[in-house]
Amino acid sequence: MNVPIRKHITLMQGYTPGEQPADVAVVKLNTNENPYPPSPRVLSAINAITVEQLRRYPSPDARDFRRAAAEVHHIDPEMIMPTNGGDELLALVVRACAGENARVAYLDPGYSLYPVLANMQAAVPVPVPYDISAQEWRVPNDIWKIDAAVLLIVNPNAPSGTLISLSALEDIAHRFSGLLLIDEAYVDFAPTSALGLVPRFPNLILLRSMSKGYGLAGMRFGYGIAQAPLIAELYKIRDSYPCDVISIAAATAAIGDQAYAKAVWQKVIQQRQWMTNQLVKLGFGVPESHSNFVLAQVPIGMDAATLYQQLKSRDILVRYFNLPRLTDKLRITIGTQQQNEVLVQTLIEIKKGLQHAR
Ligand SMILES: Cc1ncc(COP(=O)(O)O)c(C=O)c1O
Repeated sequence: MNVPIRKHITLMQGYTPGEQPADVAVVKLNTNENPYPPSPRVLSAINAITVEQLRRYPSPDARDFRRAAAEVHHIDPEMIMPTNGGDELLALVVRACAGENARVAYLDPGYSLYPVLANMQAAVPVPVPYDISAQEWRVPNDIWKIDAAVLLIVNPNAPSGTLISLSALEDIAHRFSGLLLIDEAYVDFAPTSALGLVPRFPNLILLRSMSKGYGLAGMRFGYGIAQAPLIAELYKIRDSYPCDVISIAAATAAIGDQAYAKAVWQKVIQQRQWMTNQLVKLGFGVPESHSNFVLAQVPIGMDAATLYQQLKSRDILVRYFNLPRLTDKLRITIGTQQQNEVLVQTLIEIKKGLQHAR
């Protein structure tokens, strides 16, 4: 190609997002969206947007959201960095910390965007393998020793849903010499958060997303939480107006309705327990999930890629990763009770079909 694209970009692979089918009849359990709609206050806030607001640029720092989130978390608004989805925060952190040949470390398997972000910088992706045994996902004790500019940890993890204890995270934050990003995109479905660690560690930043817990994946809104000096550095390299006026209004309304959000999280958690029990009964191996999805290892005699296709042909979408240590597993988002029942019933039928074929 005769255009001046930098060599490392021509050599890299881009991120592959999950499928977004146009057909709404599909039982869509593949991209960890919330199966429930956002708070009714969100639509009211969007409807209240005026033409005058559309004509003007939005607040550059999403002021209303910053205030509302600060109130919910009991922290200073200066510690909050609103972004165009959590993904933008990840890109900013990697861009800020990692130049050419710098090392970007992350637990693996984890979020498949991380190596892509490192490659964009001509930095070196450094996967640190999870110790996976008997359905447990353990973090190496000495991970803090890793030589890296930045360490990205998803907690609860994607795609496993497993949770790293607060004391382990505290130990890593204390000893690791680079910047530690704890990606809490799924924290709303988990019993603990690292929020309390932020005031103690200047090298720690948390990622939060409005896509999962608040049902706003279509809006693209996330935020970082860190000490004010770190947030101020990241502000220097972001877009001039990363969040638009509609998403700011929607996200502010959503985070302001904690009672609604908490009721939704409880419903998802309840369904997650049901789904886990059903999958285990069917012979799947499922590590305890603290998220809005489960990672199911297919029973002996089944092939995960084939099962993914069989479900797809019946209009049920789950996620299959053709990646090391994941090829025998499917990641299944927790849907509504009805969607979950359709999935389980279909799995029962597929299993019966397999038994008859033998
Ligand atoms: C682990 C993890 N982090 C961050 C994100 C980014 O979320 P968003 O950009 O939708 O806020 C996702 C989205 O799937 C994710 O799975």
